[in-house]
Amino acid sequence: MKETKILLAEKDIPTQWYNIQADLPEPLPATLHPITLQPCGPDDLLPIFPMALIMQEVSQERWIDIPEEVRQIWKMWRPTPLHRAWRWEKALDTPAHIYYKWEGVSPPGSHKPNTAVAQAYYNKMEGQTRLATETGAGQWGSALAFGCNLFGMECKVYMVRISYEQKPYRKSMMQAWGAEVVPSPSPDTSYGRKLLAEDPECTGSLGIAISEAVEDAVTHDGTKYSLGSVVNHVLLHQTVIGLEAKKQFEMAGEYPDMMIGCIGGGSSFAGFSLPFVRDKIVEDKEIRFIAVEPEACPSVTRGLYAFDWGDTAKTGPVVKMHTLGHTFVPPPIHAGGLRYHGMAPIICHLHRLGIMEARAEHQTAVFAAAVSFAKAEGLIPAPEPAHAIKVTMDEALKCRETGEEKVIAFLLCGHGHFDMAAYDEFFAGTLQDYEYPEEKIRAAQKELPVVSL
Ligand SMILES: Cc1ncc(COP(=O)(O)O)c(C=O)c1O
Repeated sequence: MKETKILLAEKDIPTQWYNIQADLPEPLPATLHPITLQPCGPDDLLPIFPMALIMQEVSQERWIDIPEEVRQIWKMWRPTPLHRAWRWEKALDTPAHIYYKWEGVSPPGSHKPNTAVAQAYYNKMEGQTRLATETGAGQWGSALAFGCNLFGMECKVYMVRISYEQKPYRKSMMQAWGAEVVPSPSPDTSYGRKLLAEDPECTGSLGIAISEAVEDAVTHDGTKYSLGSVVNHVLLHQTVIGLEAKKQFEMAGEYPDMMIGCIGGGSSFAGFSLPFVRDKIVEDKEIRFIAVEPEACPSVTRGLYAFDWGDTAKTGPVVKMHTLGHTFVPPPIHAGGLRYHGMAPIICHLHRLGIMEARAEHQTAVFAAAVSFAKAEGLIPAPEPAHAIKVTMDEALKCRETGEEKVIAFLLCGHGHFDMAAYDEFFAGTLQDYEYPEEKIRAAQKELPVVSL
């Protein structure tokens, strides 16, 4: 009988994370202090992160133990299934074998709680009682609210104002798990008050919300800041996805020719692909990795590869990444989770080394692909992974032309149940495509820090 879901048992949940830093052909560039612009030491990061996560950030160990308490909580939804998209393959009339790893089965509906639970755990172990964070689409905020609640911690979420207005039920979800949610910019921080005084209608950005959450963490006792993507320790936690997928591909008797995922900060695609990237680096396996971003926020395909601040107020660390500039205020595209000005340094480094490819897609084509997938497979994707679906569809249609039976694996990292307003706009024909203007990228270049190492 043809299997549709390739399932692992709870005992198969990995016991260690995979750290790509041990296998990189060249080390990652240093993380810099936001003011001195010199390499950061652990003590520089301690006001915002707990020591255990700082050590993971710089660790060169290949395998890092996953705390048993975290694995026990993950059992609420992990291991997640790997699906064979039989029905979509038939609808596309392609000889390609399409697989997707489905992370939308978690309580908040995405991959984000994989790291939220781990971060809440390490903070709790070091005596913190409260976490502050930003959220764009609301997926990360709900994941951290969920994680904090499990460990009896308070959670404060600065939610980008445009998402707060577009997606009010994400806010209610965070409240159900006990978090306090405010639209960002907010009157709760001095940076938020400054921005509101300059422009009371400011729609916000992830860079602004990060600045508010960092300020909150350093001005409240017992509070640290928690980030849902971009930094190395978050990508490390997400490798649980790819480690499970490896076992599942073994069970299916296949190995992917290409892996595809969306990138906002890069954590889900890194988590899915890094254990396979190791095969390419260490064993010279033939496999392609395609990271997909929106044309409206094209950090890797059109941004500059340079040192930049991760937040708008320039209070967070400076990293080398593809950036549209820390002053970037995004156009109102619906993939709220893909509207960040920068990108995970690990993804950018792999792109520079020629190991990872990147593509940008327009949102109307992305929604059309999502609907094609939903009609065949039943699941309604979030707008973010719908970007991966678009490229998967393109590659599967290429196989139809060439007759090749390629194995294509993509990450379906979240459901779109809170994104139906965006689907409505697509069905009404009012969804607009937007190309990020070249002159804005050139203007952002002038705002970058001048770094001399
Ligand atoms: C469902 C979903 N997918 C993807 C992303 C993008 O983040 P990342 O690239 O870190 O996975 C987000 C971010 O909010 C998200 O909510």
